[in-house]
Amino acid sequence: MRIGLLGLGTVGAGTYRVLARNQSLIQARAGRQIVITQVAVRDLARAAAIAGTDVALTTDPFSVVTDPDIDVVVEVIGGTTLAKALVLRAIEHGKHVVTANKALLAEHGSEIFAAAEARGVAVAYEGAVAVSIPIIKALRESLVANHIEWLAGIINGTSNFILTEMRSKGLSFDAALADAQRLGYAEADPSFDVDGIDAAHKLCLLAANAFGSTLQFQQIDIQGITELQVADMAYAEQLGYRIKLLGIAKRSDAGLELRVHPALVPVEHLMASVEGSMNAVMVKSDAAGITLHYGAGAGSEETASAVIADLVDLARTFGADAHQRVPHLAFQSQALHALPVLPMTELVGSYYLRFDLAEGDGDGVVAHALEQLVQTGVEVQSHALLLHHQDRARRAFTILTRPTRLAKLMQAVNRLQQLPHELGAPTVLRVEQLT
Ligand code: HSE
Repeated sequence: MRIGLLGLGTVGAGTYRVLARNQSLIQARAGRQIVITQVAVRDLARAAAIAGTDVALTTDPFSVVTDPDIDVVVEVIGGTTLAKALVLRAIEHGKHVVTANKALLAEHGSEIFAAAEARGVAVAYEGAVAVSIPIIKALRESLVANHIEWLAGIINGTSNFILTEMRSKGLSFDAALADAQRLGYAEADPSFDVDGIDAAHKLCLLAANAFGSTLQFQQIDIQGITELQVADMAYAEQLGYRIKLLGIAKRSDAGLELRVHPALVPVEHLMASVEGSMNAVMVKSDAAGITLHYGAGAGSEETASAVIADLVDLARTFGADAHQRVPHLAFQSQALHALPVLPMTELVGSYYLRFDLAEGDGDGVVAHALEQLVQTGVEVQSHALLLHHQDRARRAFTILTRPTRLAKLMQAVNRLQQLPHELGAPTVLRVEQLT
């Protein structure tokens, strides 16, 4: 099976290296040789240093995707403009495509999968979601018997790495992000990682596979980690929680919840132990119950492992009838529906609120705030006066609410801020029990 590789960056170089290193093992498993015969890059000299002289290098990716000698195109250049044009051209020319490009599929997957189906070729993307974890295979194949109730994932390695470094080593946000970039975890534009967009791209693909919904990236409620303070991590820890950036998709009779946001997770929960650049996806299904899928969430060979797994899947079914392949989004395309997505303000959940107290603010302010919350109908599960983790002269007043509609909580918070005992705007984070 002859491969045209588009891009020799972090993932491309890893794919090249692992395929070369494990060639005979992979051939024994695939039943045929998988050979990269052409590589399209921007910098030929840099590429020659990685790929040597065994392979044809070009700066023209369109010559690769239209070459009749290429069977499968591996797209690992990233971005959504050139990558989309190349993938669609490859499909038009009857090539299968393997991609690790979650942005491309979350935003243009419907068009790309439709084109592939019409042309009878496959677009495989295991490396696009939680890199090394075979979660697309798990949803599309291993869990097909189940109604899936919800899934929750730590699905951005960079932001999990940053949160872990900030909490455990006291590193600043910027220093932790710089480390993530140096280690090759971050996207070319790291705002995708820290603003929750990369996690939302992945959640979009997970939700479609879990629920048979069409790809609805624009409907996802997204909040990143840039507003988080180390103080909140320390307060959360004192209350028995750890803060994680979660992607959550949940199905109910009313519709779908699709959201990415930082959340408090009980410290004893398995998801709280997913640290550094590791990822995990927890899936709650009606027959299988809870399954937890854990592994590396970013990295060169970690992603290459998934890209090559897709290549082996293609090699094993090479030449087979298109209808014998696993459907792109787990359901036959005619069974996909645009399920209604519920607005975040209508969702019910427990929340953590943190108010910084000014010097002199005491029990009176706290009692007053609690009274106002209760009057608005927000039930308080617990509250605490906590000392700042570094500056013991600073104190915060934290509240954990009982399950409440977010719209009602926001109403209560607005009301509180209009009172004479002026409390500043609180930090509001959702609590997720994940059971
Ligand atoms: N930037 C991504 C992450 C890479 O940090 O998770 C893997 O998709």
